[in-house]
Amino acid sequence: MSLKINLISLLTGGMSFLACIMATPAGAKEGVWIPATLKAHEKDMRKEGLEIPVDQIYNENGTGLNNAVVLFGKGCTGELISSKGLILTNHHCGYGSVQGLSSTENDYFANGYFAKNMQEEIPCKGLTVTFIRRMENVTDRILTGISDTMKDAARDAIIAERIAKTEKEFASATHMDAQIKPYYEGNQYWVAITETYRDIRLVGFPPNGIGAFGGDVENWIWPRHTGDFSMFRVYAGADNKPADYAKNNPPYRADQFFAINTSGYKEGDFTMVYGFPGTTKEYISSYELKQVYSIIDPISIAARSRKLDVWTKHMAWTRENFLKYTSKRAGVANGWKKWQGEVRGLDVNNATGKKELYEKGFQKWADTVQDMPFAKNILTDMRKSAQKADALIRQDQYNKEAVLGVELIQQGSAAESLITCFRLGLPKEQLEDTLKKLAANMGGFYKNYDAATDKDVFISLLTLYFTKCAAWLPEEFTTEYRAHNQDIVAMAEDVYSSSILASQDKLNAFAAAAKSGDSTKILADPAWLLYNAINTMRKEKITPFLKDYYTHMHYLDRLYMKAQMARDKKKDFYPDANLTLRVSYGKVKGLDPEGPATYSFQTRLNEVVALDDSTSDIFKVPKKLKELYRKKDYGRWGVNGTMPVAFIASNHTSGGNSGSPVLNKKGELIGTNFDRAYEGTMSDYYFDPNRCRNISVDIRYTLFVIEKFGGAGWLIDEMNIVKSQGTSPKSQNPKSR
Ligand code: ARG
Ligand code: ASP
Repeated sequence: MSLKINLISLLTGGMSFLACIMATPAGAKEGVWIPATLKAHEKDMRKEGLEIPVDQIYNENGTGLNNAVVLFGKGCTGELISSKGLILTNHHCGYGSVQGLSSTENDYFANGYFAKNMQEEIPCKGLTVTFIRRMENVTDRILTGISDTMKDAARDAIIAERIAKTEKEFASATHMDAQIKPYYEGNQYWVAITETYRDIRLVGFPPNGIGAFGGDVENWIWPRHTGDFSMFRVYAGADNKPADYAKNNPPYRADQFFAINTSGYKEGDFTMVYGFPGTTKEYISSYELKQVYSIIDPISIAARSRKLDVWTKHMAWTRENFLKYTSKRAGVANGWKKWQGEVRGLDVNNATGKKELYEKGFQKWADTVQDMPFAKNILTDMRKSAQKADALIRQDQYNKEAVLGVELIQQGSAAESLITCFRLGLPKEQLEDTLKKLAANMGGFYKNYDAATDKDVFISLLTLYFTKCAAWLPEEFTTEYRAHNQDIVAMAEDVYSSSILASQDKLNAFAAAAKSGDSTKILADPAWLLYNAINTMRKEKITPFLKDYYTHMHYLDRLYMKAQMARDKKKDFYPDANLTLRVSYGKVKGLDPEGPATYSFQTRLNEVVALDDSTSDIFKVPKKLKELYRKKDYGRWGVNGTMPVAFIASNHTSGGNSGSPVLNKKGELIGTNFDRAYEGTMSDYYFDPNRCRNISVDIRYTLFVIEKFGGAGWLIDEMNIVKSQGTSPKSQNPKSR
């Protein structure tokens, strides 16, 4: 009831103090906290339900649970779940590595893969995991003596030098790696002491029918039915330190790994997420938020809607096209859907309106404050700068999404390397040879490219571009358009039939017969001409101005952050996410943003089976899973004849948190984070506790799939399974006991 009143007042933009209070249900917490600062939150975390000391979560002695959390690859999180380096992460985080290992004979996407012993674990070339051993606030060493208002170019140079020097000192003192990153928009700097392991092997990967169940349709959606997990193992040198791959490397010996609690959770239970959130921008001005909300997101959504329509149509026509575009489609659709949720969430919350209100209060304060003279002009400067940049941002978003979103135009950039070849003045044979090699290197692009599909994308996207950007069209575009009697279809036919870059065969034929004067053919290629036109326009009219704008805005953002913190000393500011190790905490909680439909906090296997559709690629439940369901053969992992699959909680997460351990009040693993609910994807800009939920795979579903579906019970023997709510973990943190 109170929720409804609340929503109405929010929708109408009337933000009363009362609404503000009511909108924050107990236990929903905004914030991605630096683990080394948790002491300051211990009291609150305890109040919310935490039962272990925070120095068990992170400490300086090397015995904290931070040693059981890794940056997985370049943008996901993983957690250690055995003393032998076993790592749990998401299916979609292991996907790229598995693609490299999978073939039509060994199709791990269709059949899954579960090693039967360590010998069967498969090395994943190029995959790394990074541990954060320790973090330290080094702000003094980086910022001392630098004035706040020094302009960024000069400031940046001094800071870069200090960072390099300090990183070196930490690295040589610790014999590990050291990275320093800015926090609070550059008002603080922290060093992370890290170790990156590079012999990582695939251990378990459920088939897509479990690990990617529901595909793009269920992506960003609660209720969710995906078993989005996979398992890897870290291998080390004999000294347990990072080492290159070697067959005989032993598994990494982990002193810290997560105990797994299978006793479940109920609504209201305390949870934490420990991982690497990528980006949040909670403290930006209304002007910057409006650029996202009313320029960047809508343009990207409109352009991608067109592209996805075309791709979807062509993918349904042939299996070949489906395979070529399925992975690209997932990537394009992931952002497309998230931004729609984001716009809606910002809208429902009147987020820009609230920021404007806040800015009024800030300005009042800034007009009178004595010791921060720069505060007074920040917002005006931001407004003026943003207003000047709006048109450029709009135009460049169309350039990026509607023009460079056409694969052939983007591929036009490849002509640059071909042209360079001709400039070298090589003898004919060598020229041919070099061009052939270049053409072969582009094989990866053509393997997943269909020119007929892309031609339709060209027609659809350039129609959008011509309508929306009439005043900005580069000459090449208008000339071509006019030359084809303003018929975009005719223009497309011509471009795709005459471009050498439209197929690998044409490119190969060109390379095989190339003569020294043939660079003129490339210089006249329509894909190159269109790419070059857009690129030149960006270089001359947009990029340098936007670069200056972002540099200036960054300068203002830093001052604004500093001033906001000075104004509101009682408020607990967390630093925006920057893909460094963070802890967020919240509660297991259903979702009822708008009523009357309330979504429970948990999904179960019967719902998965009810969605089964043998004609669908994404809703086809594997036969074996259905058999296990029919027999209720859940082993130790079922709950009164049911099998939990996924659950939601109110933890603040972001992209990068995929694969993060979701922990209970004792720091034991109860699930693996993998997504957010559609209603709350705006949490990167605005966290609304009524709508923001992180989605996790229930650990019992993971264990059930490993043991009963994958037949890999030997892995479970390595783990430390805790069954009851009451007992504390046996060997969660053996060193410190
Ligand atoms: N939304 C998830 C995240 O942003 C991606 C989940 C992968 N699944 C998919 N259907 N694309 O990474
Ligand atoms: N799916 C995201 C990831 O891969 C998580 C999120 O954005 O909530 O990191």
